[in-house]
Amino acid sequence: MNKLTVRDIEIKAKAVLMRADFNVPQDEQLNISDDTRIRASLPTIKYILKNGAKRLILMSHLGRPKGKVVDKYRLNSVAKRLQELLGQPVKKLDDCTGSGLQAVIAASSENIILLENLRFHAEEEANDPKFAKNLASLGDIFVNDAFGTAHRAHASTEGITHYLKSAAGFLLEKEIQYLGDILASPQHPFIVILGGAKVSDKIGVIDNLLPKCDCLLIGGAMAYTFLSAKGFKIGNSKLEKDKLDLARDILTKARQAGKEIVLPVDNLVVDKIGPAATGDIVGEEIPDTKIAVDIGPATIKLFQSKLKGAKTVLWNGPMGIFEMDAFASGTKGIAQSLAVSGATTLIGGGDTAAAVVKFGLEDKMTHISTGGGACLEFLEGKVLPGIAALTDK
Ligand code: 3PG
Repeated sequence: MNKLTVRDIEIKAKAVLMRADFNVPQDEQLNISDDTRIRASLPTIKYILKNGAKRLILMSHLGRPKGKVVDKYRLNSVAKRLQELLGQPVKKLDDCTGSGLQAVIAASSENIILLENLRFHAEEEANDPKFAKNLASLGDIFVNDAFGTAHRAHASTEGITHYLKSAAGFLLEKEIQYLGDILASPQHPFIVILGGAKVSDKIGVIDNLLPKCDCLLIGGAMAYTFLSAKGFKIGNSKLEKDKLDLARDILTKARQAGKEIVLPVDNLVVDKIGPAATGDIVGEEIPDTKIAVDIGPATIKLFQSKLKGAKTVLWNGPMGIFEMDAFASGTKGIAQSLAVSGATTLIGGGDTAAAVVKFGLEDKMTHISTGGGACLEFLEGKVLPGIAALTDK
């Protein structure tokens, strides 16, 4: 990587301003239901503290409060969780900008400070230079460890780098390394598994990865637009009508390039989606009134056979509605086979990461990205503004 990392900068006696992605899911009582992103930031936080920083000022967004103060998006639960994980006090402030903030920070006896949700100010997402300059005034150097937000050119990810020397944290560096390697020099056979709701979300990834991979397995709701494009009946399953031509183009391109695209050969179908629904297994043709909610057992076996001997596997997007146990077999079957495969396994963030965590297989994967949209954009080959803006080595 040609950007400064936290290892390349002098930290001793400095006030370090660090952008993390603490955008974590919370339940109704505001308990954090998955703290992966907080734990993923710990190596950088600990390194900064161990190397004698005068103070560590952490900042993040949570949710999409659209420039207003929304109580449920306060970072209180994040501060509490961080404090538990670090075993030392974290002072949580009620704002991230404004006169007097510097004095409050300077007077604080705690040396870890967490600012309030950046997105309570519309200037954050607008990448307002004055807001960015105010944030920058709180620290001597800037460390960005928020891979999940690296695709956003916001004040705390891009704007701030105009005012401070800016380095990548360990998480950002690790994500760039794993995802960058898979784009630059994947070991073959390289199998890509795509799923999730929409073809439109994955077009960029297909375009970028089809030439690099040996085989593309497609499951999840997006598979039904492809099956429809091939002339199969898909019943009431999700169809993106306006993407049918595109799906045909992708299938043709793959055939011409000698790349295999494998689609479901059987499906779990229901009359109505709901946790109590029981389904039937049907083949590629789905009856008129039925909705496909998962890939079927023959497809799981087929996909597993394609994964045998793979050296690199990238998986982005669940195979069905895995959040409901009755429709989770396909996603679980794929997760289980990746867990025991000898391949380098990379899991795209968002839903796929949540699925792997749900099945307790997170320690069995080579790398689980903490980015959802950021991971997709990286895999599309796009330059992420939060990375591009960091100081060159
Ligand atoms: C994410 O959850 O993907 C990141 O935290 C970015 O959130 P955003 O999509 O609201 O910008």
